Amino acid sequence: MPTDRRPRASRPEACGSDSRDHHLAARCPRRSRGRDGAFDKEMIVHVQTRTWAGDNLFNLPHEPWLDQRRALQPLFTKKHVAVYADRMAEIAQSMAAGWAASGAIDLGRETRRLTLRVLGHSLFGLDLSDHADDLGPPLTRSVQFITRRSLQPVRAPTWMPTPARHRFRTAMAVVTDAIDDAMAAARTDSGGDAELIRLFFELTDPATGEQFTDRTIRQELFAFLFAGHDTTATTLAYSLWALGHDHEVQDRVAAEAAEVGDRHLQASDLAQLPYTVQVIHEALRVCPPAATVARMAMRDVEVDGYRIPAGTNAVVGIYALHHDPVLWDHPERFDPDRFDRERSTISRWQYLPFGGGPRTCIGDHFAILEATLALAGIVRAVCVESLSDDFPLATPFTMVAGGPVPARVCARTTAA
Ligand code: HEM
Repeated sequence: MPTDRRPRASRPEACGSDSRDHHLAARCPRRSRGRDGAFDKEMIVHVQTRTWAGDNLFNLPHEPWLDQRRALQPLFTKKHVAVYADRMAEIAQSMAAGWAASGAIDLGRETRRLTLRVLGHSLFGLDLSDHADDLGPPLTRSVQFITRRSLQPVRAPTWMPTPARHRFRTAMAVVTDAIDDAMAAARTDSGGDAELIRLFFELTDPATGEQFTDRTIRQELFAFLFAGHDTTATTLAYSLWALGHDHEVQDRVAAEAAEVGDRHLQASDLAQLPYTVQVIHEALRVCPPAATVARMAMRDVEVDGYRIPAGTNAVVGIYALHHDPVLWDHPERFDPDRFDRERSTISRWQYLPFGGGPRTCIGDHFAILEATLALAGIVRAVCVESLSDDFPLATPFTMVAGGPVPARVCARTTAA
C-alpha cells in the first residue's frame, strides 16, 4: 500500500529548504513557485509541519497544492456552506441555553467546544464536542511543539527521543484516534454529515493517479481540525468578550437578531444581520487568529523598492497591519461601525484576517457564516457580562485565548 502520494522530489528535504540552507531552495528548479514564482510555503514552519504532521492543504508548496485546492474548493463556496447553517445555528442556540443555566462560563473554553461541535457535525460526521475536552489540549500541544521547533535556531535531529517529542507523539495519538473514528464512521455511514471525509475518499491523487491513502487523508483532516476550530473560536470568544464590555454594541446585535424572529437562524439571514457581521469583522481586525502568515522568497524579488534575496523568510504581520495607526483611526478601539459598508474606506490589502492571494483561507465563508449565526443566536438568547478586563492571548500556532475568559451569562428576557 502506498504510504505517501507525493514523489520524493517534491518533498522539502529533497531540496534542502530548511532555513539552515536558505539558498538551496531557490536553486532547485523543480520546486513549486506559487502564482508568479516569487514566494512559497517553504519557510521553516511549513517544512516542520510537513515533517511532523505530514503533507496537507495548509502546508503543501504550490505545485502539489493546486489540484487539491481545486478539488476541495466546491465544498467551501459561499453557496455550499449554507447547507451547514441549520446545524451551526442549532448548536449555538443549545449551547447558549446551557450557558444561561450555568450562569458563569469561560468564553475561551466554551467557544472552542462550540466550534469543534460545528466542525464535527458539518465536515467530520462526528460529535466532536464529546471529545472537546480531550481533543482540544492535545491538538494545541501538537501544533505548539511544531511552532516551538520551528522557532529554535538549532534543532535536534528528528530521530532523537526527547521528552518534548514523547509528549508530542502522545498528543498526536489522541488526535489521530479521533480522526480515525471519524473516518471509520464515514465509511459505514455513507449518507452522514462527513462531507469532507467522503470527498477525500472519492478524490484521486494527482501525483499517483490512485485514491488517497488513509494516512494521507488523516494528515489532511488534521489540518482542517487545527485550522478550522481554534480560529473561529478565538473570533467568537473575542466578540463575546468585547460585547460583554460594551452593552450598547451588544444591545444592537440583540435587536438586529430579534428582528429575524425567534426561529432558527439561516444562511439567508446574514443579509438581515449586517451589524453582527460588522462585529465579527471588527473582532477579526483587533484579534486576528492568524496573527502572521509566512512564506519563503524562492528567488530574488523586489517589493516596494526593497530587494529580498532568495531564501529569505518573509512574514506578513497581520496583527501589526490591523493595528497600524497610519491605516486605522484609534486602532485599539473596538468599533464595528468602521466596517459599515456605507462609510467604509477599508482597502483590500489593509485588512487580511483570511490572508490573501491563492493561499487565502479555504474556510473563510464557513467561518463568517458560523461566527455570525452563532453570535446572533447567542446574543439573541442571553446577556453576556465580561468579568475580566483583559483578553489573554497565546500563540501555540494560531492566536487563541491564552487563559480563562470569565463571563456571566443570563437569559435575555427582552431583546434590547
Ligand atoms: C475566523 C476563522 C479563520 C481565520 C481567521 C482563518 C485564517 C486563515 C489564514 C490567514 C489562512 C492563510 C494562511 C497562509 O497564508 O499561510 C488560512 C488558511 C487555511 N484555512 Fe483558515 N481561517 C479560519 C477558519 C477556517 C476554517 C473554518 C477552516 C476549515 C473549515 C479553515 C481551513 C483552512 C485551510 C485548510 C487553510 C489552508 C488553505 C490553503 O492553503 O489552500 N480555516 N486560514
